Amino acid sequence: MKSNSYQSGFGNEFATEAVAGALPVGRNSPQRVAHGLYAEQLSGTAFTAPRGENRRSWLYRIRPAAMHGTFSPYAAPADTPRFHSDFGQGPITPDQLRWSPLPLPSVDGGAAVDFVDGLFTMAGNGSPAAQHGVGIHLYAANADMQGRYFYDADGELLIVPQLGRLRIETELGVLDVEPQEIAVVPRGVRFRVALPDGEARGYVCENFGALLRLPDLGPIGSNGLANPRDFLTPCAEYEDLEGDFELIAKFQGHLWRADIGHSPLDVVAWHGNYAPYKYDLRRFNTIGSISFDHPDPSIFLVLHSASDTPGTSNLDFVIFPPRWLVAQDTFRPPWFHRNIASEFMGLIHGQYDAKAEGFAPGGASLHNSMTGHGPDAATFDKASASDLSRPDVIAETMAFMFETRAVIRPTAQALDAAHRQRDYQACWAGLRSHFVAPV
Ligand SMILES: [Fe+2]
Repeated sequence: MKSNSYQSGFGNEFATEAVAGALPVGRNSPQRVAHGLYAEQLSGTAFTAPRGENRRSWLYRIRPAAMHGTFSPYAAPADTPRFHSDFGQGPITPDQLRWSPLPLPSVDGGAAVDFVDGLFTMAGNGSPAAQHGVGIHLYAANADMQGRYFYDADGELLIVPQLGRLRIETELGVLDVEPQEIAVVPRGVRFRVALPDGEARGYVCENFGALLRLPDLGPIGSNGLANPRDFLTPCAEYEDLEGDFELIAKFQGHLWRADIGHSPLDVVAWHGNYAPYKYDLRRFNTIGSISFDHPDPSIFLVLHSASDTPGTSNLDFVIFPPRWLVAQDTFRPPWFHRNIASEFMGLIHGQYDAKAEGFAPGGASLHNSMTGHGPDAATFDKASASDLSRPDVIAETMAFMFETRAVIRPTAQALDAAHRQRDYQACWAGLRSHFVAPV
């Protein structure tokens, strides 16, 4: 699998073939598929989902997905992080939480760790069984996936690279992504990850709920925020390989492995609207106030997973990109706040404008429902005294948030991790009372 070419648009009815004539015309499942291929449908929504939400693709492949050995529990190497859906049970702290970047394996002893073994589950809510909620993971890897393939039956994977490029070779084609781009691999799609830069680190949100989609724009109009034409889905590409390979599955919260005697990346042609895609966050059309105050951060929404309650998402993926700040008589950084929603933040690039220090690229913070947070003391002091007659520009930044309606439960390994910053709350300790009572 060498080249990568893309088709443009979000959730389109794509059609692509790596071999001319491989796609059937006028039907999905002919008696004999051209070139001796097998036809296979991959459904991402219920058969009977409304047409506007119905997602499925037809795959024309060398061998059907049913061909592999028996699954048994997968035992990750003992010294690599753990990837699961065992979010904290029982009482969880309402404290503000923050972590430094997950150490790269090359720093941590030099063992070869690929993308799957490099996943470290930080937090989550809901469950794969209930089909709502999310799993939130970090990854740090220094090796290509070799001779093995992975799929996640529990949710679609929103992958947010922070360091190093990823080459994501999927059944439906190849996604090349770099930091400040994201990739989404649908539930069930098999793939392998290579690291062109030798090492990589980033974030993954595993969405157990409704498929990610673009938000409605309301009064914004017909353009703006993430525009559909900037989403790219790969063209068909395949490999015809036999060997002693391994298929790893995440199913109902845990990892399984099976022998597989061929590469499952053998889809020669496909059509449909259930497929991987990528998006360059630098193409986001950022909208903000040109008068006073700034809007709620929902104005920065890239993708969301709807819940059963209108306007209340299972998951919002929000970014804080470069932008101009021009509001007058306004505290320009993010305000102090408490929300009913819960917020897991990460930093891809540069600096986040609500924190002077301590929130490094690759780091993470968690502010759960009704936990107070906002700018640190240094940021407050600076912004309260800044000259508003001139615009501010935040040029070097790309922060993001996985925001959910349900409380995000940190895992025991996240709370115990060496990279947790146990003094995070001290960043607000310097906020003094400025109140002067009228005499
Ligand atoms: Fe917040």
